[in-house]
Amino acid sequence: MNVFTSKNLQALPSRERATLINAISGIRSANLIATRGDAGTNLSVFNSVTHLGSSPALLGMVFRPLSVERHTYSNIKNYKDFTINAITTAMVPKAHQTSAKYPEGVSEFDAVGFQPLFREETHVPFVEGSPIQVLCTYSQEHVLENQCILLTASIKAIWIDERGLSKDHFVNHEQLQTVGIGGLDAYYTTRLEGRYAYAKPDQPTTKINQV
Ligand SMILES: Cc1cc2nc3c(=O)[nH]c(=O)nc-3n(C[C@H](O)[C@H](O)[C@H](O)COP(=O)(O)O)c2cc1C
Repeated sequence: MNVFTSKNLQALPSRERATLINAISGIRSANLIATRGDAGTNLSVFNSVTHLGSSPALLGMVFRPLSVERHTYSNIKNYKDFTINAITTAMVPKAHQTSAKYPEGVSEFDAVGFQPLFREETHVPFVEGSPIQVLCTYSQEHVLENQCILLTASIKAIWIDERGLSKDHFVNHEQLQTVGIGGLDAYYTTRLEGRYAYAKPDQPTTKINQV
């Protein structure tokens, strides 16, 4: 095993340190966040969208420090509604390209070639073709010790491709071909290893057959 103490880590070139630290927490979700601002629509890839609670339904995401313009963040602050759209294998190259720093007046939808999808429920776009589309609205924000911002959002509505939805509302990411992200540049396909019944101390581990 290689060992990195906090001192070793500090001595690494900053890019390599970021590459390592970004990846050690494992594979993270891969989503496109779509917003609307005064200059038009905006679309950016995010790997920090995470489940925070289901009652009320709450998601969170982490924004980098506000030392430069953050269009997604400022659009959410100004307009409240935004959408989270799962990325599939077929969407990866274009989704990755949304991380480029386009000027405020340029919509990443046009720049990378995603089709915006508008619904009557909101003024913000969804990403056409994404199998999981979530309409969210700003709830709170918390500044972390490194000046990153944890933004929390309530879920207003969810659209899911029925091919990945079971009768018990289990969402099968393998069927939907959604991907995960390692670090900031590695995209992984998903494969279901299995589902397991609720674990109890006095019962054997049980695999659920139905998916
Ligand atoms: C794979 C990947 C994941 C990313 N995840 C985040 C993230 O969770 N939070 C963040 O602030 N930026 C993240 N970024 C960077 C944004 O995508 C990038 O800064 C983008 O230009 C933001 O655009 P905006 O200014 O239009 O919001 C990520 C970039 C990549 C390539």
